[in-house]
Amino acid sequence: MELEQRTRELREQLNYHIYRYNVLSDPIITDAEYDRLYHELRQLEEEHPELITLDSPTQRAGSDLSEDFPKIQHPVSVLSLANAFSVEDLRSWEERNQRLLPADTDLDYVLEPKLDGLTVVITYENGILTKAATRGNGEVGDDVTANIKTVRTIPLRIPVHRDKGPAPERVSVRGEVLFFKKDFEALNQRQEAEGLPLYVNARNTASGTLKQKDSRITASRPLSAFIYDVLDSVGLKLDTQQEMLDFLQDMGFHIPPQSNYYPTLSDIIQQLPTRESLRDSLDYEIDGLVIKVNNLHLANELGVVGKDPRGAIAYKFPAQEASTKLIGVTVNIGRTGKITPTAQLEPVFISGVTVVNASLHNYDLIASLDIRLGDTVIVKRSGDVIPYVIGPVTGSRTGSETPITPPEFCPFSGDPIIQPEGAVDYYCPNPRCPERVFRKVEFFVSRGAMDIEGMGPQTVKTLIEKGIITDEGDIFYLTPEPLLELEKFAQKKVDNLLASIEAAKHRPLAQLITSLGIDGVGGTIAELLASEFQSIDELISTSEAVKQAAVAFRNAASPLIEAAENPGANQLLADTQRNIERLRNPLIELVPRYRDGQEIGSRLQRLLKSLEAYGALDELVAPLQAMIRAAQPLIRIEGLGPILVHNIVDWFADDFNQGIIAKMKQAGVNMEAEARTLSSNKLEGMTFVLTGTLPSMTREEASALIENHGGKVTGSVSKKTSYVLVGDSPGSKATKAAQLGVPTISENDLKAMVGV
Ligand code: IVH
Repeated sequence: MELEQRTRELREQLNYHIYRYNVLSDPIITDAEYDRLYHELRQLEEEHPELITLDSPTQRAGSDLSEDFPKIQHPVSVLSLANAFSVEDLRSWEERNQRLLPADTDLDYVLEPKLDGLTVVITYENGILTKAATRGNGEVGDDVTANIKTVRTIPLRIPVHRDKGPAPERVSVRGEVLFFKKDFEALNQRQEAEGLPLYVNARNTASGTLKQKDSRITASRPLSAFIYDVLDSVGLKLDTQQEMLDFLQDMGFHIPPQSNYYPTLSDIIQQLPTRESLRDSLDYEIDGLVIKVNNLHLANELGVVGKDPRGAIAYKFPAQEASTKLIGVTVNIGRTGKITPTAQLEPVFISGVTVVNASLHNYDLIASLDIRLGDTVIVKRSGDVIPYVIGPVTGSRTGSETPITPPEFCPFSGDPIIQPEGAVDYYCPNPRCPERVFRKVEFFVSRGAMDIEGMGPQTVKTLIEKGIITDEGDIFYLTPEPLLELEKFAQKKVDNLLASIEAAKHRPLAQLITSLGIDGVGGTIAELLASEFQSIDELISTSEAVKQAAVAFRNAASPLIEAAENPGANQLLADTQRNIERLRNPLIELVPRYRDGQEIGSRLQRLLKSLEAYGALDELVAPLQAMIRAAQPLIRIEGLGPILVHNIVDWFADDFNQGIIAKMKQAGVNMEAEARTLSSNKLEGMTFVLTGTLPSMTREEASALIENHGGKVTGSVSKKTSYVLVGDSPGSKATKAAQLGVPTISENDLKAMVGV
């Protein structure tokens, strides 16, 4: 009786949560909490099949169907997996299976990672990819063929290698589409550089990307896929899961890494702690492991319960998500003045660690996710990434929650906070803000930047507080006396610090540029700048010239902007509005578009057509040309996008920053590029792109070798690239080279070219 009562309760709760999740898109429990309830119901039902009812959530498959896509009928049901949360769960899974099979049947297994992505079913006919669908409701899925074709790790034709035997007449494979962690980060960096909102969750973004109506958008985002199953086939005979994985690999699919055979379940159980500890170091997210009966005939014999085959089970890792209360928001100011809000949480234990702070991304995202102070929120913690808030559990609101807004004034300097036009973030605009100065100096001295030893954050803070330094330039004027007065600073320590500062005066130009902390300018970009510009002075004079040209352009454009904004009152057409925006940001909006300098007049006329009525557009041509000319040294650098050009110009043309540079120069800090004596000019006029891991040198060494012989190294492959230097596990650049017909060479070829 009690059991009946409990199953009813579980059914009702689960059905309610399914409704909240799928219909309202407003879950009030975490996925892990849902899994636990579901698991309990499943277990009760398995032990007491008479308690299964038609409305039990175990009897239905979830659905991801959307109205925007045509449907594809799957060749067979696309099943799901039952979950196990403990070693006992796994043992009883095996015992149950053994009871269903003839006595003394030996079971062996394959262990695979459980990839945290979304299922796709891809069909090949005579080796050609003809169809791809999402899981949908397990029977019918959304037709995402065009989008799947943009995923580079999915072959369009199998087998990929000619010598791998013919493809079967027809085969439908199943796999998981996801973002590699580094690709997801890169995607977000791109968003940030373009001033667009960040993506919070890799899995949801992968799902959104796969379900784009415009496959060009899918193509622009680096999705990957692993294939782990042959769902159905004609002309193919497989006996074991291991053979299946081998077959898939032979045909050219990426199979889940570390998918291994084990003769017994005990062997698998032994693996669990190691596998779990490796979780965070993997290049992709996994939420558990999948254990599969290796013998496919036995697996088939075991059959299916509900939508879960008995022949496989998911061993779920402890959740990396939990819900807790958002009790406060602290404001952090970065070195560029950017404000990042941080959540203060009621302590919550997530995968082994008590979490009290989490990132809230930015205020736009807080608003769009509608996160409020006092909300119950879901927090995720994985690996070394800072824990972050995924979103609110709005169903738990009491009405006392309050909206979160950016501060009006900087809590450190008291200056009014600004949000630059078109930016996602808010900023403290005062370059002398003590917190900004602290963050800047802390970065300036850090390893990878100027690398000054003996100047930890606490020392930096004290030096600023005592007024001994007011910016990074002052570091080079430090004398022993005030340092000796600091706590824990004895003579030896002071000597070491001053020696380290002295050494920092002679860092290469690129290192100095990196250390300045210009938004978006890391080591790679700094190297590019240092090889194009001979000195900081040249960067300053180019930036000044661009800024002056921009002022002249603004003067030429402002009558037009005023005229256009005047008559329409607040009813400006979107197109007109957009064009006004272009005139306001010529360096980002117009200069890159016309950098080739050709037919600017007529092209500008076409672009800005909606402004024609308000003034003479041709008066803009000469000032725009002047801007393009002034910006030439920057815009001709491949790999330097418009936002970066803008940030660089802004930084170097700024009086305050120029003051710091002057101070450093005066103190003898190196501001010049090393005069490079070339070993030869054998590679003169050639540009190279590097991809993959080289057998005997690092990428830096290879770049240095190329540059020492007069060649250039750039970041992306274009028709102008002379050669792509390809190492092991090359990226998309090798594919791009093949598409453009750019020749690829190996490390040995390069060495032969320069004669070493
Ligand atoms: S096998 C009948 N293997 O996990 C075969 N699934 O929670 C069922 N998943 O819907 C799938 N990695 O989307 C299998 N190595 C793997 C997997 C995997 C991830 C997903 C799959 C499935 C879900 C079940």
